[in-house]
Amino acid sequence: MKKITVIGAGNVGSTAAQRLAEKEVAEEIVLIDILEGIPQGKALDIWQSAAVEMFDTKVIGTNDYKDTANSDVIVVTAGLARKPGMSRDDLLLANAKIVASVVEQSAAVSPNSIIIVVSNPLDVMCYVALTKSGFPKNRVFGMAGVLDTSRFKNFISRELNVSVKNITTMILGGHGDSMVPLVRYTTVEGIPLSELLSQTKIDDLVKRARNGGIEIVNFLKTGSAYYAPSSSVVEMVEAIAKNTKRILPSSALLNGEYGMNNVYCGVPVKLGVNGIEEILQLKLNDDEMKAFQISANDVADNIKKLNL
Ligand code: NAI
Ligand code: 2OP
Repeated sequence: MKKITVIGAGNVGSTAAQRLAEKEVAEEIVLIDILEGIPQGKALDIWQSAAVEMFDTKVIGTNDYKDTANSDVIVVTAGLARKPGMSRDDLLLANAKIVASVVEQSAAVSPNSIIIVVSNPLDVMCYVALTKSGFPKNRVFGMAGVLDTSRFKNFISRELNVSVKNITTMILGGHGDSMVPLVRYTTVEGIPLSELLSQTKIDDLVKRARNGGIEIVNFLKTGSAYYAPSSSVVEMVEAIAKNTKRILPSSALLNGEYGMNNVYCGVPVKLGVNGIEEILQLKLNDDEMKAFQISANDVADNIKKLNL
């Protein structure tokens, strides 16, 4: 892949740029922010680590969208992050304006790009990005499920004292308090989680996964998580850059899938060079479907508030 633009040189954006550069996911990484000097300084600092980290990626910082032209992938991290006491939805109106503006400017100069949204509230911001870019839905989607499942896997592996690599799971729904960790689809090297842990213990782990973001906010106090979020977005970009067809949970526009319409929600998708190449439809039982519907309705209510 030739060029990736990361919009927002804050915690998530700059850490994502660093990881993308170190992994040589593209020939060039462009970091752009509204703040003057910050993207330039951070990009130069990352690039100056090249001789130690042994990468050949160019890392450019800028405030000018011209420098982002012809990007293959655009990662949108611009916006406000949560502080203690704030829900992701508290960020709705402020971040909708920011995401609309950065997507319009970047999509205009990179009309063939794939947009991965990170800014919160995630699923609603994906809808903003879809509307403002005018891109097809396979090229506009969001990162949340990789992060949420990574947290869930971490908590399960620590509880069982087994490698995190043995754990497979899936989380559906919006990236919010009503997200739906699917315990029935959670296995440890093929063994259903329910055979290894009591229902009470599983309920605790599900709750901790749902609150994984706020747990970090409450420690940091001045912002939200960024190490695991940046790793998660890089995993998605790599699947696209290397056309691996990996199945990863992503926020995707649902039009008929799971019986839902015109709403973004976390679902398993196949990622490749064309972005979302397939949305996988899992068989859900009544409780899972009900929980998914509640979560999708939360997203739909917030989309309505924006009058797009
Ligand atoms: P941050 O505050 O460290 O960085 C945000 C950056 O956006 C700042 O550098 C700011 O100057 C920049 N920005 C603001 N308005 C802009 C504009 N109009 N154009 C260009 N840049 C602009 O925040 P952090 O921690 O990097 O988080 C970024 C966003 O990602 C937040 O909305 C946060 O809630 C969200 N997030 C989402 C996750 C997910 O799972 N989807 C996980 C972690 C964070
Ligand atoms: C997280 O889950 C804040 O959405 C962000 O950490």
